[in-house]
Parts: sequence; C-alpha cells; structure tokens
Amino acid sequence: MTGELPLPRFEFRPDQPSIWAMLRQGVGNPAAVIPVAILEQPAVQLPGPGAPLIVAAPDLVREVLGGRSESFTRDRFMRRLLRRSWGRGLAAAEGEDWQRQRRAAVPFFRPQMVQQQLAAFAAAADAVLDQLPERAELDLVDFSARIIARIVLEVLVDGEGFADPDAAARDVPALIRRIGRFTLLDLLPLPERLLDFKNGIGRDPAVRRLKALAAQLAAARKLGAARSDMIALLEGVGPIEDNIRGLFPAAMETTVAGLAWAHYVMALRPEWQQQVADEGRALGTSIDLGQLVKTRQVVNEVLRLYPPAPLMARSVAQDMELDGYPLKAGQPVLIAAYAMHRHRQLWDNPDSFDPNRFAPGAAPPDAFMPFGTGPRMCIAAQFAQAEMAVVLAKVLARFVLEPADHQPQVSLQVTTHSVNGLKAVARQRQG
Ligand code: HEM
Repeated sequence: MTGELPLPRFEFRPDQPSIWAMLRQGVGNPAAVIPVAILEQPAVQLPGPGAPLIVAAPDLVREVLGGRSESFTRDRFMRRLLRRSWGRGLAAAEGEDWQRQRRAAVPFFRPQMVQQQLAAFAAAADAVLDQLPERAELDLVDFSARIIARIVLEVLVDGEGFADPDAAARDVPALIRRIGRFTLLDLLPLPERLLDFKNGIGRDPAVRRLKALAAQLAAARKLGAARSDMIALLEGVGPIEDNIRGLFPAAMETTVAGLAWAHYVMALRPEWQQQVADEGRALGTSIDLGQLVKTRQVVNEVLRLYPPAPLMARSVAQDMELDGYPLKAGQPVLIAAYAMHRHRQLWDNPDSFDPNRFAPGAAPPDAFMPFGTGPRMCIAAQFAQAEMAVVLAKVLARFVLEPADHQPQVSLQVTTHSVNGLKAVARQRQG
C-alpha cells in the first residue's frame, strides 16, 4: 500500500538566499527564501543583519509561540495582513481586547458544541453534491469552497438566507490574493492607509463585495431575532462587522485548502479512499465523530503534508537568545510548519502519505502543529478537523474520486496551495 506516491513536493531554495533575493522575493513571499537545510536542522539563520531566523524544531516552536510568546509578537506584515481582513476583530486584536474576544468565542468551539454542528457539515456537503452530474472533472478548490462557504454562512455567521455562499466562495480567494500582497514599498515607514491604498485593497471588487456582505449581515443582526452562531458570542465584546469580515478568509481559505488537498490525495490513494467511503456510508442522520476513525486519520495526515498555514511569522520583542541563536529586537522569526511536518530528523518517510501515523493508540506526533500552538493557537482546531472529516466522508460516500490528467505545483505563499489548481474526476458511486 505504500510505493512511490505521486504527490507534488515543494522545493525549498537549494542555497542560502542573498540579501537582495530576500528583499525582492521575501517581502511578497517569505516561503521563496527558505533554504532546503531547514528540512534537516532545528533552525536556519538567513544571512544579513536582522534577517529572519527560520524555525522548524517543535521544542523551539513551542518556545516562540507558547512559553515565551510575550517575547515574540506578530511581525508587522502579519499584523497588517490581519488588520486588512479582521479590522479590530479577534485575530487582529492584541492585549486585553484580544483576551476578551477570545474568551467570549472559545465556548463555541468546545467538543459538545462541535458535536451539535456535525449534521450541518453533512448537509452542506449534500447540498453541493446534489448539484453534481454523474461524472465530472472537479476543480477541487472551488468544489471545497462551495461546501465550506455554506458552513461558514450557516454555522459561524447565520447568513439569514440572503447571503449567496457560492458568491462568497468565489470572492474569498481574490480577497486573500489582494490582502496578502506586499512589495518593497511596504518596507517604507509610510502610513498603513496609504500603503493599503497603493496596494488597491479598497478598490478590489471582491474585497468590496465581502465588506458589503459583512456590513449587511451585521446590520441584519441588530433588527432580527437572537442568533446562536459564533458571532453571537462576540456581541457586546468585539466589533461585529469586523469579526464577520475576518471570518470569511480565516474560516474558509484554510479549511478549503486542507479539504481540497484531502480530496486530491484520496483520488491518488484508492485504498484509503475506500475506507473513508465505508465510514461515510455508515453515517446515519445522527453523526458521531467516533464513527470516523480512519477518516480523521486521513485528515490529520493531509494536514501534516499540506498544512494550510505553512508559515507563521513573529517578531522579536527585545534582544535575546533562542537555542544559541542571538536575536535582535524587531528581527523576524518564521515558524516553518511545512518544514516541521516533513522534517527528515522527525518523521520516518516524511514525504509519504501514511495515516497510520495518527492511528488510535499511536503516540501523538510531537512535530505536528497545523493549528499553531500557544495562546494564539487556532481557536477552531477541533471544529475544522471535524468539519473536514464529515465533509470528506460524505463526499466519498456518494462519489468515487479518480486522478485527473493534471500535475499540481505547490506554493507556500500565505496558504499551502497549488498555483495551477487541484483537479480530480468524480464519478457517482453505484449502489
Ligand atoms: C484546517 C483549517 C484551519 C487551519 C489549518 C487553521 C490554522 C490556524 C493557525 C495556524 C492559526 C494561528 C496563527 C498564528 O499563531 O500566527 C490560526 C488562528 C486562528 N484561526 Fe484558524 N485554522 C483553520 C480553521 C479555522 C476556522 C474554521 C476558524 C473559524 C472560526 C478559524 C479561526 C481562527 C482564529 C479566529 C484565529 C486567531 C486566534 C487568535 O488570535 O486568538 N480557523 N488558525
């Protein structure tokens, strides 16, 4: 069941990048300057004064994101990226404001609450599957986005039936491309508004449409009956419109990326696909995650190989040392989750797809952090894992996925994605 796996591989730079390469490529796409040595070493210091330290060892990552997180703040690009999508909402907030919003939203993601959402996850998958012909070549990103948009607009933000999930599914990738755009000009100490204007953020039609949708949803809440969605918990605690707007990219792009890869990998691994399909077919109207043992293993293994958030950026708060590396205030530290997940010293056959690594009873892998760690770890980790598992099982219960004639090219810019899309052929299951 092993054998050569035709999975695409991201190639890190063969050498240390020059300072010029870091400036030219690194500002827009930090992933482009990561040397391949990070797959063998705990950390790699890029050349030049104040250049980023790339970190992949789990204990160091836990120090940066967890134990010493007060000494590693978000870097300026990360802050700006978050403000562009979240305004003053949860993921962009800092200090007490963040703590208040985080505390208020956490209960929505507790296991009992997630359990209550499983049927809605399945219904969202069915709604999109009902529209598929008997056989189709699927654009897996678009397909996954249509399902996840239905979940976001029903479970996380009650869309009242007037938000079009397919339109949101189309607009979010354009928004991500736009807000994730940084150039050399962004290094200058100019006002943020001016830089955002120069980057065309306010003029982008997709950004405008999603902003208008968030405003419309926020306004409707003031008039209508009380809701029981995630946003309801933030009422009176954080800015509602900003939080709705921020959820679109945070809850969609990551989950969509993970789910699209999951579908893609399943098309290439029929024996695992069959096991997931069997679990999907056994699901009744009341769903329990305990029924999806193999499916959840598959989901974790996909999140390992293709972590939707491949890099997390921090900035050193004051001069210090990390594992012998001297760090200067303001220096960027890049957590390379993608490299940790495929590290040659930390995994056996790191590039091969083997969901048994996550089998019940196996020691939980230490070098697995698709949701980050520490106080700012993804608030929705269990929600997202459950969402991916239920949707994948539902899709494979009804359709067989086969490889399409297509070779993905992996990029780690903002999310782990394929620049030329992800495709598979879907055929309705008989009987
Ligand atoms: C597979 C899907 C997902 C992945 C891989 C993922 C990954 C992450 C990661 C790595 C972080 C931490 C970033 C950092 O420390 O710099 C994060 C934060 C966050 N995620 Fe997710 N995420 C996913 C799905 C979701 C969903 C469905 C939601 C919906 C509510 C969500 C909401 C958030 C929020 C609000 C934060 C910021 C938390 C804070 O600052 O306190 N994520 N996510």
